[in-house]
Amino acid sequence: MDFKYLILMIAFATVEINLTESRQNDKRRWKSEKSLYSHYVNICDIQDRVSKVHCYCESIKIKTATKADCWVFNGGIAEDDPFWSNFYSQPKIERLTFNVRADGGLTYIPAKVIVRLDRLQYLNIQYANIFSIPSFAFTNSTTLREISLQKNKIGKLERMAFAHLIMLANVSVAENQISELQRDVFYVLPNLQRLQLSKNTISVLHDGCFKHLNNLIKLDLNSNLLTVVIRENFQGLSNLITLDMRNNKLMMIGDLSFAELWSLQELYLDGNEIEFISERGFGGLTQLKKLSLADNKLGVLDDGVLDDIQKLNFLDLRNNKLETLKQETLRSVIDNMKSNYALISLDGNKLTCDCRLSWLHKLRNETRSKRVKASLDRLQCIMDTKLKNNLVNIKVQNAEVQYKVNIGLKKEIDKNDDDEEEFEDDNIYDDAMKDQENGLDVTKKDYRRKLMEIPVDMLPCASKLSYEASFSPPTQDEVKYYKTSGCEKCLASTVSFITMCTLTRIL
Ligand SMILES: *[C@@H]1O[C@H](CO)[C@@H](O)[C@H](O)[C@H]1NC(C)=O
Ligand SMILES: *[C@@H]1O[C@H](CO)[C@@H](O)[C@H](O)[C@H]1NC(C)=O
Ligand SMILES: *[C@@H]1O[C@H](CO)[C@@H](O)[C@H](O)[C@H]1NC(C)=O
Repeated sequence: MDFKYLILMIAFATVEINLTESRQNDKRRWKSEKSLYSHYVNICDIQDRVSKVHCYCESIKIKTATKADCWVFNGGIAEDDPFWSNFYSQPKIERLTFNVRADGGLTYIPAKVIVRLDRLQYLNIQYANIFSIPSFAFTNSTTLREISLQKNKIGKLERMAFAHLIMLANVSVAENQISELQRDVFYVLPNLQRLQLSKNTISVLHDGCFKHLNNLIKLDLNSNLLTVVIRENFQGLSNLITLDMRNNKLMMIGDLSFAELWSLQELYLDGNEIEFISERGFGGLTQLKKLSLADNKLGVLDDGVLDDIQKLNFLDLRNNKLETLKQETLRSVIDNMKSNYALISLDGNKLTCDCRLSWLHKLRNETRSKRVKASLDRLQCIMDTKLKNNLVNIKVQNAEVQYKVNIGLKKEIDKNDDDEEEFEDDNIYDDAMKDQENGLDVTKKDYRRKLMEIPVDMLPCASKLSYEASFSPPTQDEVKYYKTSGCEKCLASTVSFITMCTLTRIL
């Protein structure tokens, strides 16, 4: 009996001693940390010159830094390198950046760091060689708000790569090599608002790949290789406000492609190869205000194409191949184009100077938007040889009156040119348009006229054309009209043209 007790007592005593010892150890360690002799190296104050990682922080005192810029040098650092635990020395870091200085320096997301920093909000890694982002790469962090992974050669995003990150608001994986987006890559991200996927090589969006992003506001797919866009691509994005799909390879927009985007207000499709937009291509976009289709290959716009977009007040169709734009096409939005901040832009098309464009005169007259006025004032249309011929041949009953109207209009336009400086916004945009105008093909210049400088009555109509076609040569008055109608430079060509006509008649 006694012997047993003795053994027990000895056992307890040993445990007691061990406990005390380890407590003392803890105390010692704590003390040494306080006195900067931490068992962890202070990552903000690394003395070792051969260290593979160096960080610069706004404070080098232990456990105080909130911001660290870390550089990963030659040779790289393994995922299980004990160095990563040194981040315990600065547990208050909120903003952490890794700049990788050499190839192969960092080939993974340093999860060991993320999991240790329980105040980390902002993570930025650039110039690494991270070819793939695995599932749960960000360790279900409950603090991360922004993840930026630009220029890291990322080719693959595994399912759940970005998952269970309840505070995450912004993600950028721009300038990588992502070629397709699977489903469930973005998973349980209830606060995600901005997703940047620009400058990758995305050609495939799997159906429902954004399905879990109900609170996304802005999606940037600029500069990728998308050739088609279908409704299923955008499932779940019911709160998206801005979609940027500029500089892809889209060739057509089919029925209801964007119909899942009930809240969309801005759609950018510039710099694609769009030749055709089906009549319901923008079906369902009831909130859309801004539609940008510049630098595509549109030859015609169907009458019904804008019918669903009743709130549209910004329409950019620069640098397409439109030969005309019918009033019917804009029937549902024409009143919006008269409001203060509206813009409609048609420069760089192949618009024909004829009466199908006469409604633009009316719009010019009625709009309150300085931008619409300025844009229409500089809008040029093409008078091809035939039309020029007909324009010359149209009987002008009261040439004098026309002449006055024309001069009046010109004055007003000049006056408005002066106003241009007052534009509140989009100055850059307007400058860009001016540059374009200056860049016009010089050889074609003779055949282009400013639409607003051609009186409405002088715009020929297709029906008129056929029956006016067999008319007599121009009268003196008509030649005079030409001389005075802001086309002084054209006079020479007009005269030579008349000569040509005469020759033709003789022949
Ligand atoms: C993150 O959470 C999910 C769901 O709770 C779980 O399945 C997963 O293993 C967790 N991953 C990590 C790295 O914590
Ligand atoms: C997300 O990005 C936007 C725009 O760049 C910025 O204004 C916002 O503060 C960011 N939000 C967070 C939580 O980082
Ligand atoms: C412009 O408006 C004025 C006054 O509202 C009107 O008299 C004139 O006919 C209009 N001109 C055109 C081309 O619509």
